[in-house]
Amino acid sequence: MRGLRDKRIVIAGGATGIGAATAERLAEEGASVVVGDINLAGARATAERIGEAGGTAFAVEFDLADGDSIRALVDRAVTEFGGVDGLYNVGADLSPGTIGRDFDLLEMDPEVWRRTHEVNLLGYAVACRAVLPHLLGQGGGAIVNTSSAAAWIGEPERPAYAASKAGINALTRHVSSRWGKEGVRCNAVAPGLVLGDKQQDGQAPAAYLLATRSHRPGEPADLAGTVAFLLSDDAEWVNGQIWSICGGMSLRE
Ligand SMILES: NC(=O)c1ccc[n+]([C@@H]2O[C@H](COP(=O)([O-])OP(=O)(O)OC[C@H]3O[C@@H](n4cnc5c(N)ncnc54)[C@H](O)[C@@H]3O)[C@@H](O)[C@H]2O)c1
Repeated sequence: MRGLRDKRIVIAGGATGIGAATAERLAEEGASVVVGDINLAGARATAERIGEAGGTAFAVEFDLADGDSIRALVDRAVTEFGGVDGLYNVGADLSPGTIGRDFDLLEMDPEVWRRTHEVNLLGYAVACRAVLPHLLGQGGGAIVNTSSAAAWIGEPERPAYAASKAGINALTRHVSSRWGKEGVRCNAVAPGLVLGDKQQDGQAPAAYLLATRSHRPGEPADLAGTVAFLLSDDAEWVNGQIWSICGGMSLRE
């Protein structure tokens, strides 16, 4: 991929799943990667795998619900690598206490809505704000946010999660519209059903496959390839887009 070598990329949520796979793919393409996550052990494991494969990465503990820690994550990238060229926002609160309690409106807990928006949406906005001065100071850079098909499919449950992802789409369009002329590209990927470590057993693989128009269910690496492209110079003419990466589950124009 053109223009990823030596780029300095912050991954906001790279301990497991799509974030970890993307950190590894970016390093494979020659980028230097800061793996941030609330799960420090997981972030370290990702950074170690990258190091063992000959890449450059280090891990930082941070919390998308804590603005100071987001700024510190970006500052570490600048201190260690001398700057930052890109950001991949991918973390989300998918815990049983949050998304597991994201019931329909008659059953809703406002605290679940607050927590979901604080981590999934406000955290992404603060992370974008933290990298923007660095990108603008060097004439541009790229941001990719992680949305979800949940933003538009209209599920009977998970309204807070869906609303946070719809908000990420608006955030993405705002950043690209406001700073695109100054060289900043901001796009989002919207995964369909992607098999992480937690979904490898049981009925998930067959159910996820059924939801697609593909011959196999989605894997984190499928997102990693797209995000790497969007952060690369090959995607110089892609801005403000929300791309469905879902094996054809959603047919959007
Ligand atoms: N897997 C899917 O089917 C699917 C579908 C649509 C969207 N997504 C989105 O893709 C992204 C990655 O999901 P995944 O499937 O790889 O799950 P995952 O659980 O493997 O990854 C989520 C990561 O976010 C981190 N995280 C959680 N709370 C955090 C916080 N407060 N601060 C910092 N990091 C935090 C976790 O530790 C974890 O590393 C999420 O944004 C999710 O909403 C996933």
